[in-house]
Amino acid sequence: MSCDDTVDCGRRRLLVATSVAGGVAGVAAVVPFVSTFAPSERAKSAGAPVEVDVSKLAPGEMMTVEWRGKPVWIIHRTKEMLDDLTKLGAKLSDPKSDRNMQPAYAKNEHRSIKPEYLVAIGICTHLGCSPSEKFRSGAESGVAADWPGGFLCPCHGSLFDLAGRVYKSMPAPDNLEIPPHVYLSDARILIGEDRKGA
Ligand code: FES
Repeated sequence: MSCDDTVDCGRRRLLVATSVAGGVAGVAAVVPFVSTFAPSERAKSAGAPVEVDVSKLAPGEMMTVEWRGKPVWIIHRTKEMLDDLTKLGAKLSDPKSDRNMQPAYAKNEHRSIKPEYLVAIGICTHLGCSPSEKFRSGAESGVAADWPGGFLCPCHGSLFDLAGRVYKSMPAPDNLEIPPHVYLSDARILIGEDRKGA
């Protein structure tokens, strides 16, 4: 759903712009900004696929690119982050993305082609705000003492894990959307295309 009707879109843009930095859950604080909306404005507005180089994205870092006017998050998850994903099932609304219309490669616990890389659209499935990263774990996160790291939507409080899976009993009804994408090589992802057999 877009934010055109009930949500302050300006606020969303601000949140998008400020969510490009990442961090390591439970390890480091916020990691410096890695990359910003990458390809040309003209290509993006036309809806062209966006090619992203993730070779410099270190474990624990997140970058944001824009595709079709939407923020697309790419997170290089650490082993610790991946391990945490396996422990959250009972707290999540749709832990294996069975419910949603998602690419087949998102119907798993990590919701990605390669476990270490999450590629997700950073727009809340409630009313279209952009969730904020809350990568710090534990009480320091300001979320909960047992918080393993994830995202908090500031508009109405929906929580998502580091696979974009929404917690139970949240305003947001669904997990974050996974855009079609394909790996062109180990470190290059094409967002917006979904080639069979990739
Ligand atoms: S827009 Fe309402 S919780 Fe995200």
